[in-house]
Amino acid sequence: MPQYVAAIDQGTTSTRCMIFDHSGNVVAADQREHQQIFPRAGWVEHDPEEIWRNTREVCAGALAKADLVDQDIVAVGITNQRETTVVWDRTTGKPVYNAIVWQDTRTDRIIEELGNLGGGQNRYHASTGLPLATYFAGPKVKWILDNVDGARAKADAGDLLFGTIDSWLLWNATGGPDGGLHITDATNASRTLLMDLDTLTWNEQNAADMGIPMSMLPEIRSCSEVYGNIRQRGAFAGLPLAGSLGDQQAATFGQACLSVGEAKNTYGTGNFVLLNTGNEKVMSENGLLTTVCYKIGENQTVYALEGSIAVTGSLVQWLRDNLGMIGSAPEIEQLAASVDDNGGVYFVPAFSGLFAPYWRSDARGAIVGLTRYVTKGHLAHAVLQATAFQSKEVIDAMNADSGVPLKSLKVDGGMVGNELLMQFQADILGVPVIRPVVAETTALGAAYAAGLAVGFWQSEDDIRTNWAQDKQWDPQMDEAEREKQYRKWKKAVTKTFDWVD
Ligand code: G3P
Repeated sequence: MPQYVAAIDQGTTSTRCMIFDHSGNVVAADQREHQQIFPRAGWVEHDPEEIWRNTREVCAGALAKADLVDQDIVAVGITNQRETTVVWDRTTGKPVYNAIVWQDTRTDRIIEELGNLGGGQNRYHASTGLPLATYFAGPKVKWILDNVDGARAKADAGDLLFGTIDSWLLWNATGGPDGGLHITDATNASRTLLMDLDTLTWNEQNAADMGIPMSMLPEIRSCSEVYGNIRQRGAFAGLPLAGSLGDQQAATFGQACLSVGEAKNTYGTGNFVLLNTGNEKVMSENGLLTTVCYKIGENQTVYALEGSIAVTGSLVQWLRDNLGMIGSAPEIEQLAASVDDNGGVYFVPAFSGLFAPYWRSDARGAIVGLTRYVTKGHLAHAVLQATAFQSKEVIDAMNADSGVPLKSLKVDGGMVGNELLMQFQADILGVPVIRPVVAETTALGAAYAAGLAVGFWQSEDDIRTNWAQDKQWDPQMDEAEREKQYRKWKKAVTKTFDWVD
């Protein structure tokens, strides 16, 4: 009987379950979107209970679509939107507040205050590899403890638990209030501003700065080991949960970027470029993050340099939902293709401030270069190009940090079916862009982590063997044109600065 591995991919806009065979092919998938809650400008929340409900539903859905039963699955892996923060009551299992999403900027004051304790934006850089920014989880926990009635007292009494979405799902899946495991993995923990990058343990000083009791923090585990068995009734009951990585690290693993110098770019809600730097932790001098790439069981930790871009795919959704300019996200390609170029327009989507390489929470979005000539088609071009320009910025930073220019870029995620964007990405980078056959590398990476832990796959060589190229885009733009367009983009970026008081 053939056997399979399942992966739960809990992303920013939806939750998916995918089932993979031994060759890494998708056998079945099920997906549910969840509500995006925007209570105020700059605030983004999710309902953690809705996410947990959807998770159970998509697991059952995928199993049914594959026409399989639990016994056909050897292990389950989890991958998740990172940094999104949940605080819940360990006795009732109820969240004390909605999940505060990674894109949310409400912690800007807290960030400033923490910086004022000394060290400014670099206060935690040496210990965590991260700049102080609204993006990360720790300050979001502080916000909940400071602002939710009674939360601080309950936290001090040891009644509240904190977790990123992986922890929330792992705790619920393994029993919730009835003995659920309160754990996280090193990749997710590396996004909190609370974990020491060298030791993979919680940094007590950082937690004390943010007023977070140590009793709230989950135990940090590797990305690939049998954590426990699923205890809930319904799909996958009794199966081992054996893999967990943040979604960008999972995509890096699923893309088989397993050697030093290999990098991938995932085109999702945001874009995230990760470069494998091996067992060496490279501290960026150019605005990138140093983060845990993966830790497989007892093996040494593998680190990465990361260029995080907050808004790429979500800009296309914004065009669809807020402006109604397209009916569905894929329609943007057709609209863009109705004209030859951007008509001189540049769109800098600094909706959550600017992440890498700028880390400016005072920035807000701008469309520049408008003239009476500009049409929807030009705007659609500018929207797609924004993703490619932002990717170039972080790859330039990576080249500067590593001293070795990237020779090609592996890509994955929702937008890599967009030919116009992929060609422009190759043009603006000046290197080939390569898409694998299985573009669902995020879920695949979590499946690999789980499958390795139970011996379904023997070693990382199996991952390399399974990886296969689908398509390559080679640069066609001449150097002078590339430089001209990039210069304009850089100028447009400066127009977004100093917007928030
Ligand atoms: O750091 C945020 C990232 O993990 C979100 O990924 O795929 O949900 O946009 P995605």
